[in-house]
Amino acid sequence: MRGGQSLDKEAVSGPGGSSAEHEPTCLEERPKVTGPPAARPQLSSDGLRHAQVSLCQTRTQSPVCSPGDANWTAISSPDPMALTTAGTQPSLGEVAGIPLPATTVDNWHQIQGFEAQPDDLLICTYPKSGTTWIQEIVDLIEHSGDVDKCQRAAIQHRHPFLEWARPPQPSGVEKARAMPQPRVLRTHLPAQLLPPSFWESNCKFLYVARNAKDCLVSYYHFQRMNRTLPDPGTWDQYFETFISGKVAWGSWFEHVRGWWELRDNVQMLFLFYEDIKRDPKQEIQKVMKFMEKNLDGAVLDTIVQETTFEKMKANPMTNRSTAPKTILDQSISPFMRKGIVGDWKNHFTVAQNERFDEIYRQKMKGTSINFCTEL
Ligand code: A3P
Repeated sequence: MRGGQSLDKEAVSGPGGSSAEHEPTCLEERPKVTGPPAARPQLSSDGLRHAQVSLCQTRTQSPVCSPGDANWTAISSPDPMALTTAGTQPSLGEVAGIPLPATTVDNWHQIQGFEAQPDDLLICTYPKSGTTWIQEIVDLIEHSGDVDKCQRAAIQHRHPFLEWARPPQPSGVEKARAMPQPRVLRTHLPAQLLPPSFWESNCKFLYVARNAKDCLVSYYHFQRMNRTLPDPGTWDQYFETFISGKVAWGSWFEHVRGWWELRDNVQMLFLFYEDIKRDPKQEIQKVMKFMEKNLDGAVLDTIVQETTFEKMKANPMTNRSTAPKTILDQSISPFMRKGIVGDWKNHFTVAQNERFDEIYRQKMKGTSINFCTEL
């Protein structure tokens, strides 16, 4: 049941986006960039990077772009400290007002020029919403429950992370281009920043949403241990950063709302972390159907067993233990941290909870989304 939360437990919101932790792998040949023509980033007189990009010029059928969106601007934050809390770790840039890792902003032309194919399946999540979990589920379904095949590589390398850019590693776009079809890809991008070819190709989208409060908690601990994202500062500081949407990949509210509102216009399966937790079998069956895979009950049971939190925490191919400590320092906080619903109750003060609920009501007004926080 994703039924409503009572007022005191209402509004579950929170960020989540994993995968900023690829290990260096320089084995793949880098394909030539063949994206649409776009102006190159230039340094302006104020010393900031400004890039004119034409994100939506060919998106004639885009469900998320209007004619007024013809020219977008990617600009590094005019006040980098506005998007960082510690100053000693990587800062964020912005594309069209959405904070993103600076290296992603630097690679924006390539990302926007990505050529999706009609048989691509794109896993879409806000950070910390269960991306790794759904990836493992999808991979097991794709390989008909063959556990050994899903041990072929660490999870972060199985499904290219579209906006990943961390030279000299191959970018997410380069990895995707080198991958045989049909491809499973993943992204944390909000719908309005998705490369237009995904809409034009009528791809399948698998969106997983997690309640905002647990996302916030999970993202806080993730930023503590992730060296590619800004230091989160104290809990109280991060609470403010999160609700103001100044975290990488932007506002949870806008992200979830944006994708939710598209769900009937495109080929999308919209799932909830809390539902997968409550009834994994039922939710995995939905994914199987969406992927047009007809697997028998024994295979389904295997997938349920292999994707429990405990199993995935113990599995080196899913627990991110292969990522270098310089990227993910799991001595600070494990990647597979708790995997529960309602951990926000161990973090939020009463005042923070009341404030969060009020903001949630305002930002999510008019949507029919109802998250469950009780499990
Ligand atoms: P917590 O930090 O709350 O434990 P992402 O993959 O999008 O980065 O999301 C990570 C979050 O999903 C973490 O949440 C992680 O523990 C949780 N998670 C990963 N695999 C899971 C599983 N099999 N079952 C439940 N939660 C899982």
